[in-house]
Amino acid sequence: MKKVINVDDLRRLAKRRLPTICYDFIEGGTDDEIGLAANEQAFRQARIVPRYLIDVSVRDQSTNLFGCTFSSPLGIAPTGSADMFRRGADLMLAQASRDANVPFIMSGVSSSSLEDLGQLAPDHGWYQLYPAIDPLISEDMIKRVRNAGLKTLVLTVDVPEASNRERCIRNGWGPAMRPSWKAKVEALRHPLWMMQWLRNDAPYFGNWTRYAGPSASARMVAEFVMSQFGAPLTWNNVERYRQLWEGNLVLKGIMHPADAVRAGSIGVDGVIVSNHGGRQLDNAPSPLEVLPTIHEAVGDRMTVMLDGGVRRGLHVLLAICMGAKFVFQGRPTLYGVTVGGIAGAAKALAIFRREIDISMAQIGATRIADLGKHYLM
Ligand SMILES: Cc1cc2nc3c(=O)[nH]c(=O)nc-3n(C[C@H](O)[C@H](O)[C@H](O)COP(=O)(O)O)c2cc1C
Repeated sequence: MKKVINVDDLRRLAKRRLPTICYDFIEGGTDDEIGLAANEQAFRQARIVPRYLIDVSVRDQSTNLFGCTFSSPLGIAPTGSADMFRRGADLMLAQASRDANVPFIMSGVSSSSLEDLGQLAPDHGWYQLYPAIDPLISEDMIKRVRNAGLKTLVLTVDVPEASNRERCIRNGWGPAMRPSWKAKVEALRHPLWMMQWLRNDAPYFGNWTRYAGPSASARMVAEFVMSQFGAPLTWNNVERYRQLWEGNLVLKGIMHPADAVRAGSIGVDGVIVSNHGGRQLDNAPSPLEVLPTIHEAVGDRMTVMLDGGVRRGLHVLLAICMGAKFVFQGRPTLYGVTVGGIAGAAKALAIFRREIDISMAQIGATRIADLGKHYLM
């Protein structure tokens, strides 16, 4: 990994290591992948105006969020099925986040369990809930999150239905995998990945095994998870979860200012402005486009965060100037963990950290609190 100097280097190495069926799952969007491209494009088009003649020799990118001081304003977004790219990836990501002192959100469809996360990284781990059709399962999961010592619960709101991911359909990717023949043959050309695959059983959805029955196989658990997906998620559920969960409650996937205002009015602590990395609704705006309006609507009454298309440290600063308090990224640390396990995920975080530091100097900011609208054209 010595030659890796940016996130795109990690992406290229991950692409080489993974069979197309896996790489396409990470990389792909929905429909025509317009939203996917727009997320990165929004950052390319944004401009920031530097201030000079300021002593920037000492810089501090630490950031307070929900009463914790993190070393950088950038955390790891939830990404399901990470075990398919490297066995144990969820906890490797958690460990890298703990070592770098930034938050990690465990996906509701992770392979490792939230109890393992609580043991490994209680101060850095957040849990993302996908509600089940059976409300008792969701309520039990909330209880488990509390018992595991985790303090932030993230509710993803932008999956009202499975989306149309055509790369996955063509390759035969799904919770209960049925790879096409073409995908199987292509996988044989990736021996490192293949060896890992053959040495281990199929990955489980670790947070769901107990609900699928004690002797359920990985495929049976996956089928059970699919049978529990698609529960209608409404404001009533959010109110119910607010009553059940006394820790920080965050809604992920909010894109409309009125929804952010409504969330604040029922006691939600934060929103992650996100279009799920372009994976749900193709012609949604990019999160960066709607961020200023959302920040304006809720002001500092709630914590506004963002993810989607962040590939450079400077992007993190841009999002903060436009109203985000904290920023997340999903694919870059997935590339990292795929390529080099904990060290690879740490590398992705270190790349961002270094770029944030250099970019702060370039614009004349010594602290994250210096950033704001005054840097924008
Ligand atoms: C492979 C993959 C799996 C994902 N799984 C989940 C998930 O389980 N839950 C969730 O809320 N978001 C999920 N997301 C969306 C991410 O949390 C995040 O919103 C997105 O990756 C941000 O965009 P970026 O990858 O451009 O940084 C996933 C994204 C990817 C790429």
